[in-house]
Amino acid sequence: MSKKILVIGNGGREHAICWFLSQSPQKPELLCAPGNGGISKVAKCFAVEPEDIQGLIKLAKSEKVDLVVVGPEKPLAMGLVNEFQKANIATFGPTKEAATIESSKRYSKELMLKHNIPTAQAVVVRSFNEAIDQLSEKFPIVLKADGLAAGKGVSICRNFEEAEAVLRDWFTDKKGKAEYEQILIEQYLEGEELSLFVVTDGLSYQVLPPVQDHKRLLENDLGFNTGGMGAVAPTPLLTDELLDEIVVQIIEPTLKALQSEGKPFQGILFLGLIISNGKPYVLEYNARFGDPEAQALLPLIQVDLVELFDACTQQKLSELQKKYHWQPHRWQTLAKKGYSLCVVLANRGYPGNYVKGSEITLPPLDLDVFLFHANTIWDEKSKKLTASGGRVLNVVGIGNELLETRDRVYRTAKAIQFKGKQYRQDIGKKVFYHIESEESLRFGATLTILGSSSGNPSPNRNTSSYWLDVDGEGYLLDCGEGTSRSILQNNIDALKLRAIFITHTHPDHCAGLPMLLQMLHLSERHDNLPIYLPSDKIPVIALMLQHMYLIPGRLSFQYLFKPLGDEPYEDERIQVLPFRTNHLEKYREYAEPLGIVCKSYGLQVRISDRMLLYPSDIPSLLDVPNVLDEIDLLLIESTHIHPNQVAKIAREHKIPRVILTHVGTNREEQVPEWRALGITHQIPWFEVAYDGMEVTF
Ligand code: GLY
Repeated sequence: MSKKILVIGNGGREHAICWFLSQSPQKPELLCAPGNGGISKVAKCFAVEPEDIQGLIKLAKSEKVDLVVVGPEKPLAMGLVNEFQKANIATFGPTKEAATIESSKRYSKELMLKHNIPTAQAVVVRSFNEAIDQLSEKFPIVLKADGLAAGKGVSICRNFEEAEAVLRDWFTDKKGKAEYEQILIEQYLEGEELSLFVVTDGLSYQVLPPVQDHKRLLENDLGFNTGGMGAVAPTPLLTDELLDEIVVQIIEPTLKALQSEGKPFQGILFLGLIISNGKPYVLEYNARFGDPEAQALLPLIQVDLVELFDACTQQKLSELQKKYHWQPHRWQTLAKKGYSLCVVLANRGYPGNYVKGSEITLPPLDLDVFLFHANTIWDEKSKKLTASGGRVLNVVGIGNELLETRDRVYRTAKAIQFKGKQYRQDIGKKVFYHIESEESLRFGATLTILGSSSGNPSPNRNTSSYWLDVDGEGYLLDCGEGTSRSILQNNIDALKLRAIFITHTHPDHCAGLPMLLQMLHLSERHDNLPIYLPSDKIPVIALMLQHMYLIPGRLSFQYLFKPLGDEPYEDERIQVLPFRTNHLEKYREYAEPLGIVCKSYGLQVRISDRMLLYPSDIPSLLDVPNVLDEIDLLLIESTHIHPNQVAKIAREHKIPRVILTHVGTNREEQVPEWRALGITHQIPWFEVAYDGMEVTF
């Protein structure tokens, strides 16, 4: 008779665990509580919550379960394993006492300091006033809530004001919540993070492949902290030499310390490490697999999970190690060759409030691509799959080549459809830097800000201009006076320019055209460069080109004007949906002496399933309310729109990223709110641009 295994949890981690248990040659019968839309395809799901311990024991007894595997931390901290042990049901996971290593940050910090395990210095505080007294001059610092706070209990504060705001929130607004009663004020360590998993039966241990998580919502580690937006394994950050250090300084002392304190650990010990100046430090311990780390890690190991979990609950891990020649501190001895990469598809609004219930359409999966569901519901009657939470799906690929694996994963991520889908385009980027050339590192499109300084006249102003790079081809959005200089300063290859879009004809947005065209003309490459601009401005621009800079005789250059408004654009990859807006009086003032009548426009640029919006003013934004729900990046000129209006719109429409340009020294005096908004920790998606800044979107 096949073994019955009950998996507890409902996320992507639990789906991956269920899937790999189902691949065991032992062909176990799988049960899951409560499971999700994907898990229901490999395990029988029961509507019992992970924290309903008595309900779970009743289920396990009535179903005569042989083994229980616990996914999330909360039931471990509540003593689920202790209760199952009392009921004589084998359970993979630590007892409540051993799980304190995760459930109390104060306890784990004291344990590390007592046993000389390398970690950041910290003090524990119990009130707001005590905390304020303890804050030193030195920033950044890290604030950590003592208890389990579902990923919301850690805050990196860059200055006193940020720290004060977080402490007030935790000690005052969240007063009465046990997890926030004690707070750690911790030294900030600079470095690269990695997640290392150690499976242990309490006597022996085995190291698993090192994984790199991507905790921030946005590319380049910007935006809110999340549960994790993707993972890659193995990370070359962990060399064998470094691992040897980690074994001696961290893994063995931790397991021994727990034993000596009467809390032997059985299950998965998850080390959140940071490598700072070449040395490993523990940021935190967890008492279970990481999510999404498990989704990346499990496809990479050549292990019968049923055999592994059984061996741990029976304290026979060393027998398994002998049988398969695994070396305890060499993950390579049980791993496949190659890489694994996991991209999380989240819901718009995550990690804040998100909209539930969008229907999901799935494409057929490529070879070696797995789809692990995180928050989905499968309705058997209507045969519909819907999104039911913040993180919705995990797309995981494995393969010998990381680049090829990444492309396969992103092809699938793109083909999966649901309203509000958002995901990071740069998962694994840091690992690529270790192993690949920069040329092969294109992740989606990049936008380089070529002019963010003040629009006030000055000899070295840049004025607005943005270089959009799509697969190595360039598109200019606007072309202010300093554009050519900025292109050179930023080492951008002007020969790659394929089109220019002018949003309106104030000199700030087009005065650099003659110089730029001359530069391109000299290269003898661009004989037919489309320039898209408002149709009524064609004669003005033509006049400007003739009279401002271009040398007679060199005007054989063929440029092509396209009207902005009525006709669709012809570039296949960039879909520009133009919209008209009101006139801007202040631009008239600037422009009329030059014979230019200004009209304001905005651009929507859609590249694959990403959308950039570059509106010229608030009316532009208000003209397109439907579009606002789809935008991934909103590019704003601070001179046109009041910050509070943008903040309101960005919040209402859950726009994941807003970049403000034209915030130079002069402008800063006029609109100081911009920078204030840009640096507050509450809205990290509000960024203030600087010249040369590169944005992936
Ligand atoms: N990805 C981090 C965690 O699971 O805690």
